[in-house]
Amino acid sequence: MQKTLVLIKPGAIQRELIGEVLKRFENKGFRICGLKMIHLTEDILRVHYAHLVERPFFARILRSMMATPVIALCLEGVEAVKVVRDMIGVTNGREAQAGTIRGDFSLSNQENMIHASDSVENAAIEIKRFFLDNEIFSYTKVNQNYINYSDELI
Ligand code: PPS
Repeated sequence: MQKTLVLIKPGAIQRELIGEVLKRFENKGFRICGLKMIHLTEDILRVHYAHLVERPFFARILRSMMATPVIALCLEGVEAVKVVRDMIGVTNGREAQAGTIRGDFSLSNQENMIHASDSVENAAIEIKRFFLDNEIFSYTKVNQNYINYSDELI
């Protein structure tokens, strides 16, 4: 099964939507294998958004992402990276499809509720960026057999 990294952004925390976001991922059937609140620093954001440091909106990313702590989540499930990206919708909340997290709760490019890894390779890198090895937990959900059949567990 795949693991992926999610950040619930300060905007979602200010708008009291942490529970709403967690509920969607729990309802879908993902196993939460890591969850913590952290205050991001400019150093970690410069690494995490390295491909965007030259963009005109990078100062806005720093300001927005350091406004409050964020919630870092590690989710596990079959094809977790793609399924989570589909659940959050496209970057700009104004363009995100209704039914996605951004489509239902965001009108913005930056204040778009949530970040999620965009590839399996980046997920592995991002999980290590935000979690120590001993902060990622392995356990079996009692309802696992009702989430996937054994031949789907890849
Ligand atoms: S891009 O622009 O194609 O590289 O977009 P993307 O890879 O989706 O990442 C963009 C992240 O930067 C944040 N951000 C903005 N994006 C686009 N336009 C504007 N004006 C902007 N301001 C901030 C956006 O929230 C994306 O962050 P994540 O955490 O990946 O959602």
